[in-house]
Amino acid sequence: MAKDFDTMEDSNPSVHPTIHDVSLPARRQLLRGGLAAAVSSLLSPLAVQGGALTALLSGCASAPTPGAGKLGFQPVPISDADTVTVPEGYVAQVLQAWGEPVGVAGAMPPFRQDGRNTAAEQAVQMGMHHDGMAYFALQGSERGLLAMNHEYGDHGLLFADGGREWGPEQVAKSQAAHGLSVSEIARQADGSWAPVRPSRYARRVTLQTPFAVGGPAAGHPLMQTAADPSGRRVLGTLANCAASRTPWGTYLSGEENFMGYFLGPNRPDAHQARWGLRPGEPWGYRWAEHDARFDATAHPNEPNRFGWVVELDPYDPSSIPVKRTALGRAAHEGATVALTKDGRAVVYSGEDARFEYIYKFVSRDRVRPGGAQANATLLDHGTLYVARFDADGTGRWLPLVHGQGPLTAAGGFADQGELLIKARQASDALRATKMDRPEWVAVDPQGQVYVTLTNNSQRGAPGRPGVDAANPRENNTGGHILRWREDGDFHGETFRWEHFVLAGDPAAERTEARGQMKGTRDDAAFACPDGLWVDGRGVLWIQTDMSSSEMGAGVAFLQKDSANPLPPGPRELVKLGNNMMLAADPATGEIRRFLVGPVGAEITGLDMTPDGRTMFVNIQHPGETPGDRSDPAHPTAFSSWPDHRADGRPRSATVAIRKRDGGLIGT
Ligand code: FEO
Ligand code: CA
Ligand code: CA
Repeated sequence: MAKDFDTMEDSNPSVHPTIHDVSLPARRQLLRGGLAAAVSSLLSPLAVQGGALTALLSGCASAPTPGAGKLGFQPVPISDADTVTVPEGYVAQVLQAWGEPVGVAGAMPPFRQDGRNTAAEQAVQMGMHHDGMAYFALQGSERGLLAMNHEYGDHGLLFADGGREWGPEQVAKSQAAHGLSVSEIARQADGSWAPVRPSRYARRVTLQTPFAVGGPAAGHPLMQTAADPSGRRVLGTLANCAASRTPWGTYLSGEENFMGYFLGPNRPDAHQARWGLRPGEPWGYRWAEHDARFDATAHPNEPNRFGWVVELDPYDPSSIPVKRTALGRAAHEGATVALTKDGRAVVYSGEDARFEYIYKFVSRDRVRPGGAQANATLLDHGTLYVARFDADGTGRWLPLVHGQGPLTAAGGFADQGELLIKARQASDALRATKMDRPEWVAVDPQGQVYVTLTNNSQRGAPGRPGVDAANPRENNTGGHILRWREDGDFHGETFRWEHFVLAGDPAAERTEARGQMKGTRDDAAFACPDGLWVDGRGVLWIQTDMSSSEMGAGVAFLQKDSANPLPPGPRELVKLGNNMMLAADPATGEIRRFLVGPVGAEITGLDMTPDGRTMFVNIQHPGETPGDRSDPAHPTAFSSWPDHRADGRPRSATVAIRKRDGGLIGT
């Protein structure tokens, strides 16, 4: 989801070479040959701060290799149209919009465009705000399940009156709009896709669905509540952002901005403060008024039960999903699995918050044949690490193991369970690298690991951390993508990293804000990378989440939201149009824009059928207002996608993208 995105004044008018100029191998040699001091004056002030020069010298994507490109489509231009635009020769079809029945037999209420579906109806309909998603084959590329996250709710659209009337029914409906869904889809004779309803697999997971707790924090005193003295049974999941499919056929989803749902105590203790709990109710969900567990004063351990990576077996609709505490607690964007050569699972995960961390978990055991059941406790045993990016282009994984270094009882961690619940504090103690909002992680066939750092307007602000080698730009409005290669195998404790791309509008007035990507501005400019995924051909797909308060068609667009007047400051992304998805060739660094979404939407969540001929992409929060909450009197003020009905409301939905000639996506 989009989040508050402050801007700062233009304070750096100096000119310096692009990261690609200084990254060409020949140039790198030259710089390392003793001219670095001379060049550093050209790079000033960006590169002379901290280790940023080293970061630049370490390069980003390597030079193009003629004829080796993977990208065969014509890029689509920047656009502010209220539609989904894909390249010539491709078609995008809308599927599974918010409110459509998920397909539970005997319970398939139609969506009401007036917002008057009940809580019980919403609990068997697609949730709001589609996010991470994966395809689980039932019959290869012909029929399968889409498992997806429904990240958050917009009461301005969810309720006819915007939530003015407020009681248990409204809280129940808001909670039912969150969580996960599993729905069945099938390819039709003409190549299009259609829902299969009813389906024995159809399922909603909401705030009322029981979850088991696995790993060292299961049953921990800090996980125990009045409703669950065992500390092993949590109701629900929320704020689920990125997602992935594991090699053993399950679905992983990250609980991201969970703290926004809790009524914070008047005087948060140090633990609560470190996890973002503040006095009052920050995001206006008002759940605590009718569901007391969201009152963190009355139920101080309930927040400890969120912020986990959750695992779901979508093939078994009766399976109990599990919160995997061995992977650490964080505002988890998501989790992505790589396999070591000896068959162990390595799970990478970013924590999307300013100045938070990147984690990896290495399983103790090997993945076993036999799917979800055979690997039911695989993610409960292993070692969790947090990343430190050093200025010389190397990095180190710091183990989050109780008893090692400062991670002792004297240091504030009674045991491994408490350490995992307080993973932020443990990472602070290890002096891990504070990142610019780590989002999705992807791994390419060459074993390179990529992470999106979506933005951080507070980098270098007074009283906040300054730039470092890995996060080299102050007031990082555009974000960037890092990649690394582990030394040895994926479980290695050291790695070598580089920048893959610095994002932002290449034409931005502020020099330091300019994007530096391989490709023309018309074809490749983007900002705020978020979704990230590598397909079977090795193409890296990048999805963007520029916030509505920053993008669009300029000030006229923004001023349509009269309830949320514009904060002051330059807007560096307004000329990039709507959010988009791009394809990158990891070998050459070439980037081409593949899709542009409707007005106010974020592009997030993607997967392909195994044959690579259908791609599923989620369109989240079309019509999002700059203030994040829609006006119930004018729900279509910004967008009416996908139904384009004057009496309707914008809806998150999946689009199925095919090539008209049936070819591979991206060619
Ligand atoms: Fe929910 Fe970090 O995007
Ligand atoms: Ca985001
Ligand atoms: Ca995201």
